[in-house]
Amino acid sequence: MSGHVIVTDEDATRVITLRRPEKKNAITQEMYTAITNAIDTAQYNPAVRCIVITGGSGVFTAGNDLDDFIKASEGLGSRPLNGVKFLHSLVHNAKPIVAAIDGPAVGIGATMVFHCDYVLASTTATFSTPFIHLGLVPEGASSLLVPHSMGYQRAFSMLVMGRPVTAEEAQIAGFVNEVVPPGHTEVEARKAARDICALPAEAVALSRKLLRPPADELVRRIDQESHIFGERMTSPEAVAAFRAFFSRKKR
Ligand code: COA
Repeated sequence: MSGHVIVTDEDATRVITLRRPEKKNAITQEMYTAITNAIDTAQYNPAVRCIVITGGSGVFTAGNDLDDFIKASEGLGSRPLNGVKFLHSLVHNAKPIVAAIDGPAVGIGATMVFHCDYVLASTTATFSTPFIHLGLVPEGASSLLVPHSMGYQRAFSMLVMGRPVTAEEAQIAGFVNEVVPPGHTEVEARKAARDICALPAEAVALSRKLLRPPADELVRRIDQESHIFGERMTSPEAVAAFRAFFSRKKR
């Protein structure tokens, strides 16, 4: 297990915590594998009735580790695919997921939220998908789920113009359930999880499945997006943007 992902079972809730604060919880290939395992193993464990995903206080995640992207784009590493496996795992997951978002949720940190069932955000939470600024395209079936959730024009602003969405806007748009003070998302997420765990598990699973788009449709979209995303990663626009991010730090 990655030391940057902490998995604990608390009563019937599995809590997955991203803990790489020095890199704003940017998700490495190893971290994707750890999160995927935590979700996949919950499927066969009737003792786990709900999952909480949290980044702790201050930041949810800065999204995919850009170092992995730059290595792949310069041919120094294989194309990072553990993120896609993680997204497949989210689609096939049958346990309700409660997300606790305190601070920025960037890239896949924002798009994964659309696969979650109940979302707590702090007043400092922001949801941003800067794919366009990186020369990339939307991923995680966000091109399907985001317009479905908030309407085409708001989805265009978020996914194509790369404009961040605040917690308040996200609640109005309908993909955040509760906005709470900073530092309170995790405790409120645990409460929501306990409420869900107290419901009849089979009926929850069946109802949840009825509410969600068909899994094969989501997987198809993830794979379509991933194909274009992979091609874009070696584009001059993307390579320049990845380098610019790291050279910005050296100034
Ligand atoms: N991948 C790798 N490292 C990252 C990272 C990422 N996605 N996001 C942040 N980091 C690292 C920074 O390089 C920095 O490392 P250093 O201290 O060794 O130089 C450290 O995390 C802190 O980041 P910093 O930018 O100084 O923090 P901030 O509070 O000013 O800003 C963010 C936080 C999340 C807004 C900003 O880091 C950011 O925009 N990150 C990139 C997000 C992104 O484009 N993700 C990919 C989407 S597909």
